[in-house]
Amino acid sequence: MNNKIIIINGPNLNLLGEREQSQYGSITFDQLKKKCSKKAGEIGIDVEFAQSNVEGELVNIIQDARKKFDGMIINAAAFTHTSVAIRDALDLFKKPIIELHLSNIYKREEFRHKSLISGVVTGGIFGLGAEGYILAIISLQKTLQNENR
Ligand code: DQA
Repeated sequence: MNNKIIIINGPNLNLLGEREQSQYGSITFDQLKKKCSKKAGEIGIDVEFAQSNVEGELVNIIQDARKKFDGMIINAAAFTHTSVAIRDALDLFKKPIIELHLSNIYKREEFRHKSLISGVVTGGIFGLGAEGYILAIISLQKTLQNENR
């Protein structure tokens, strides 16, 4: 059976393509979804995409994911730097999680240098744009395959 993963996206990522292209590139959220689904299909992994601008909804999505998914990729966007609630929900997931950022958060304003979620994830990818999502999918698949050996 294919591994099942969820890619969770936080606030304002629905406006990719419109917002700060110098940081996030020109890809739209819809194009990003299609790109990820294509790669996931190629490597035999089932992927679901979620996006919310609302902190509590993201917490609910993370909680629900515990029963349904083997692994998670999360771009918590601005909540990365502020949300103890999202960190605590991630800590309860107990399966591989990759933290992802399109931009290099360490090259930007100081308030973005601190991630509240890094301490509870398996690993992270940042600064590689939409390609980072593809690398995250491949790497999560490898992690899950190694676990099942
Ligand atoms: C982001 C970086 C965050 O600091 C920012 O608030 C975002 C997107 C990224 O993908 O680079 O919304 O997570």
